[in-house]
Amino acid sequence: MADIGDLKSLANSIQAVASPFRAYLSDLHAKYKPLNTGKVADYIPELTQARPEWFGICVVTTDGRVFDVGDCDQVFTIQSISKAFVYGLALEDHGREYVNSKVSVEPTGEAFNSIVLDEKTNRPYNPMVNAGAIATTDLIKGNSATDRLKRILDMFLRYTGRKEIDINVPVFLSEKATGHRNRAISYLMLNFGMVTDRIDETLDLYFQQCSILVSARDLAMMSATLANGGVNPITGDRAIDEHYVQDVISVMLTCGMYDYSGEWAYRVGVPAKSGVGGGITAVVPGKLGIGTFSPLLDEKGNSVRGIKACEDLSRDFGLHLFNVAKAERDLYDWIESRDVPDGW
Ligand code: DON
Repeated sequence: MADIGDLKSLANSIQAVASPFRAYLSDLHAKYKPLNTGKVADYIPELTQARPEWFGICVVTTDGRVFDVGDCDQVFTIQSISKAFVYGLALEDHGREYVNSKVSVEPTGEAFNSIVLDEKTNRPYNPMVNAGAIATTDLIKGNSATDRLKRILDMFLRYTGRKEIDINVPVFLSEKATGHRNRAISYLMLNFGMVTDRIDETLDLYFQQCSILVSARDLAMMSATLANGGVNPITGDRAIDEHYVQDVISVMLTCGMYDYSGEWAYRVGVPAKSGVGGGITAVVPGKLGIGTFSPLLDEKGNSVRGIKACEDLSRDFGLHLFNVAKAERDLYDWIESRDVPDGW
């Protein structure tokens, strides 16, 4: 017999299927489906297998409602989106001060694979560019390569609520075979003492974490988990200590969309992370997570349709974090919903 949790999630799904918001998402999907600009990533040969027409948008609310349209079950490699979540695991492993002493949080304004390091403080600039992400992966604890990978995979199981999660082995091997630039960055960091001498193991781990298979639905679930203070809104499992959610999403806001991060913060205004597999995950703190998937990328490596869909969602629902009019309304609602002491 179904338990009460199953019934609740069934009721939520029925509501989600019939809702006006779902109709809005279908219109949004139809609006940008014909947009064919951009191109599928080809610097990792295996990624050219992606179909340009794939397009999915999924929204998961912090109270566990799921709204999806288009190719939301199609899996693709998570790529750089993994960086934000592995950063969270490094914070749990070592605490904020230590991690910050190893990886800064300054945006670079440079491409994700640029070979720039902060030589003054002897740190890579931030955990969202390749240099910082490799240094972050180097921090992941574990007794062996297998153990470290398992810890990363287990973390993604908690975020996505999946029972199992896979690595796309051909993509991993393709990345490993062609990742000379990442190896160069890593060895430069080794030379400066920014990473440990287990860097070859760490590089494999980094290529593996980038090759984890997720869907737009997973990405929405992951960002909804962050939006929900680190607890997966469907399973109730904690994916990350609440203490570190703020750190992760701050860096997503300032650095998550690479050298488009400033423009993204200006136009969309919510923490997000993109990957060259075509995914974007975006967090609206306290409210919802958005996951989009479309493999056609702009010249900065961000999904063209994904950016458009997030821009519309942000504008149409006032999701921008610095939407002052909305913040003021929310404050009044908040005050009205409480017993306000005299003098408020
Ligand atoms: O380091 C790399 O090249 C990839 N595995 C990750 C790249 C990525 O997703 C950057 N994205 N926009």
